[in-house]
Amino acid sequence: MRVLVLGSGAREHALVARLTADRDVGDLVAAPGNPGIARLARTVPLNLDDLDAVNALADREQIDFTVVGPEMPLSRGVADRFQQEGRLLFGPTAAAARLESSKAFAKAFMARHFVPTARFRACESLDDALAVVRGGEFGVPVVIKADGLAAGKGVVVAPDRAAAERAVFDAMRDRKFGAAGDAVVVEECLEGLEVSFFCLCDGTRAVAIATAQDHKRIFDDDRGPNTGGMGAFAPSPLVDAALEARVMREIVDPVVAGMAAEGHPFRGFLYVGLMLTSDGPKVIEFNVRLGDPEAQVVLPLIDQPLLPLLVAAATGRLSQRSISRGPERVAAVVLASRGYPESAESGREIVGLDAAEAIPQVSVYHAGTAIKGGRLVTAGGRVLTVVGRGLDYPEAIARAYVAALKISFDGMQFRHDIGRKAFAYAG
Ligand code: AMP
Ligand code: GLY
Repeated sequence: MRVLVLGSGAREHALVARLTADRDVGDLVAAPGNPGIARLARTVPLNLDDLDAVNALADREQIDFTVVGPEMPLSRGVADRFQQEGRLLFGPTAAAARLESSKAFAKAFMARHFVPTARFRACESLDDALAVVRGGEFGVPVVIKADGLAAGKGVVVAPDRAAAERAVFDAMRDRKFGAAGDAVVVEECLEGLEVSFFCLCDGTRAVAIATAQDHKRIFDDDRGPNTGGMGAFAPSPLVDAALEARVMREIVDPVVAGMAAEGHPFRGFLYVGLMLTSDGPKVIEFNVRLGDPEAQVVLPLIDQPLLPLLVAAATGRLSQRSISRGPERVAAVVLASRGYPESAESGREIVGLDAAEAIPQVSVYHAGTAIKGGRLVTAGGRVLTVVGRGLDYPEAIARAYVAALKISFDGMQFRHDIGRKAFAYAG
């Protein structure tokens, strides 16, 4: 089988590494890929926004099966386009991807199907949104969310009414997120611990893959601005078998059934951002793909070949009730460039990668890297993800950090507390 992986981050590097380990992959092409991926698969330059180009590449390369990493091509309809062309692709249609690409859609959908989530109002005009904020219906803090895709920056947890009004003006009057902020969702602030819950869906059925916890802020102890994610660990000790079954029953199964009933069956990875409140698990957000860096810690937990699972899900033939999971604990530390997340330096030489990768149970995945004059250099905010595996959290975390410390580049920054919160509950 000739397989195409779309994307260029560490998540896609982890996917490619995992698929390469599966014997069923005849030939693997990644587009556009990155220098790390290029060591495992043939990489082809590609603008993922250009669906004609994506389709032409699949045609030229005689691709049998396509796996999509990021949300943008899904929300633009790459799955619809491939379906029209009779090509097999794992990922939701644009209509199904609205679970991520429109927060107003996701919230209204949850309300229609009684899926537990924060109470909310969807507002399509500045006046509406200001009226909701000023009305104080949800108290403070209150959460303001740009409706559309805003690269993880469209959510403000406003501590008081003035901050909430500012967030509404930023999105709707000053169009800080462009069209993504033309509508906003104002919602109640939930209290609890956050967990990411990953499932595989085939349109009518879903199976849980695993859970993880992200570290979104740039600095230790969850301080500083939000990023795409500075590290993660998996599985989350907060979710036992009973809670997993409850999330499937109260959230995932109704979502899959609801999407199918509305004529937009959901096929793909479903990533449910959960808040574990005193009132039970509630949905913070959906993503229609794997997370980054969550994929790097979740994929190693899948203890069976990945490709047949993805093909089964893409063809509506997921027959398993569960996925077999290994006993390992996995931790990932993201190495970022100076200035991230506001800006990012590029072109700094990266050294020590070989030494890091030589450590047993360690993998290093590329994101913002490039080859310049035969040397590996930085080329973006998040540069590398260093993953450690072990039989307990301390072992996995220690491996990730020992490896991370072998690597250096000018301006390298990373969090020093990845996985620390796992001990708070796991002992
Ligand atoms: P999102 O981009 O939807 O993942 O939101 C970013 C972050 O905002 C989440 O990871 C939460 O920490 C926080 N957040 C979003 N919605 C809520 C909510 N209703 N209550 C509390 N925190 C929230
Ligand atoms: N790490 C968060 C995300 O991928 O959305």
